[in-house]
Amino acid sequence: MTGAAGAAGPGSGVPRLVGACQEQDAPEERDAYQDPRLASVYQRGNEMPATSLRAWAELIAGYASGGRAVLEVGAGTGMFCAALAEVLPDAEVTGVEPSAPMLAEAQRHNAHPRVRYLAGSAQALPMPDAGVDLVLLSRVVHHLPDRPAAARELARALRPGGRLVIRTTVRERLDAPVYRYWPRLLETDAERFPSERQIVEDFTSAADFAVHRVHSFSRPTALDLREWRERIAGRAQSKFLALTEAEFAAGLARLDAELARGSGGGGGGVADCGGGVADGGAVPRGAVAPVEERYDVIVLERTPVGA
Ligand SMILES: C[S@@+](CC[C@H](N)C(=O)[O-])C[C@H]1O[C@@H](n2cnc3c(N)ncnc32)[C@H](O)[C@@H]1O
Repeated sequence: MTGAAGAAGPGSGVPRLVGACQEQDAPEERDAYQDPRLASVYQRGNEMPATSLRAWAELIAGYASGGRAVLEVGAGTGMFCAALAEVLPDAEVTGVEPSAPMLAEAQRHNAHPRVRYLAGSAQALPMPDAGVDLVLLSRVVHHLPDRPAAARELARALRPGGRLVIRTTVRERLDAPVYRYWPRLLETDAERFPSERQIVEDFTSAADFAVHRVHSFSRPTALDLREWRERIAGRAQSKFLALTEAEFAAGLARLDAELARGSGGGGGGVADCGGGVADGGAVPRGAVAPVEERYDVIVLERTPVGA
């Protein structure tokens, strides 16, 4: 199938992520989510088991420290907004998202009585000063065209003592299941994802933020390899823009061969490692074993101005 992300640009299949150490998306990729074709497959392609979503929501909600005003920036199709509203029964959740097609999908898939979706970006939030208790930035930090500017804007919206949770992949810990089948993504992701050190430096030097905690968390992203294959075949992540159609097909063939053998092979998934760094890769372990995906979690606290 021609994937939505693969079909998103001109010259179908020409790799467009270029430049060594650019530490963020190429502009074409940053705009990928404006394409209704990618938006329309994003929710299905990025769903995770309900228990995993809840576990993630509980982990993130734990940083709200009793606050009620929750903001997700780069909310995508709203998966986390609705989940946060569920685990925080008193919270009012705002999802801010720059892509109109993604906003429409959020309304369609993740409408909730205590969630509102607004157009905006990390650089220009439609929010008053110091009114938010908790901000989530999930899989967005590498899309930001100017991290220090975003840091200042996010700090403006947070109350002193409020927290910013950055859920992301970082350059020094690339271990997503996709690399097993599309090893070239390891190279392109090493270019587009900033390091943990760089993220911390950009946010703490540009705005009133201090590091609260840095850790990793892993949960099944699919119940088995077959389900994961079905989802991934839709190319519902902007990272696949880096691959030609032929490269994508070759990776799917590797995955299918593994399914045909009935073994996912590879090492174990990564267990929760709160406070620590995961070892090994979040590698699918077999056709009937869950496919684990690990993310790094960088929690910053908004310090009082000038503290
Ligand atoms: C990979 S999706 C993540 C969606 C959701 N947060 C999640 O974790 O499933 C990245 C989202 O970031 C949005 N985005 C891109 N640039 C942004 C910016 N400058 N400010 C806020 N969001 C941005 C995209 O439109 C897209 O919806």
